[in-house]
Amino acid sequence: MTDPTSLYERLGGVFAIATVVDDFIDRVMADARLNANAKVDEAHHKVAPAGFKYLVTEQVCEATGGPQRYTGKTMAVSHDELGITEGEWQAFLDDFKQTLDKFSVPEQEQSELFAIVESTKDDIVKSS
Ligand code: HEM
Repeated sequence: MTDPTSLYERLGGVFAIATVVDDFIDRVMADARLNANAKVDEAHHKVAPAGFKYLVTEQVCEATGGPQRYTGKTMAVSHDELGITEGEWQAFLDDFKQTLDKFSVPEQEQSELFAIVESTKDDIVKSS
């Protein structure tokens, strides 16, 4: 049974998380600051956005204490060849903030989500 005090439950469970991820992935895919990186542009648009949304929803649910389990590639493997820069990372965080504000996610939950995202940075950002 899921801990009722978990971040997962405080966010509203899978339906709320999937809704936030849906908006966020649409925002990231359309972000010119990220698509300026040709490898990111190509890799993002060769797969269906729905698949990304599915995998990221699994991942966020697991990381916040939900019962789902992430079944995709590791962050290091899936981002290794992309040459993601610090500036692109900051643009990604800005998109995330815009999505969380759009859905009025409270400050406490936002800071816990940002801490989870930050914990993956070393696997994702490879150049400065
Ligand atoms: C916490 C931050 C991030 C998370 C949780 C995340 C999550 C994911 C996931 C779940 C996948 C799919 C893995 C699979 O195919 O099994 C993926 C792939 C990908 N991500 Fe991220 N990502 C993050 C940051 C970023 C950033 C900052 C960028 C670009 C600036 C980016 C661009 C991409 C691209 C282009 C792919 C497709 C790779 C390929 O199929 O060749 N990601 N990411």
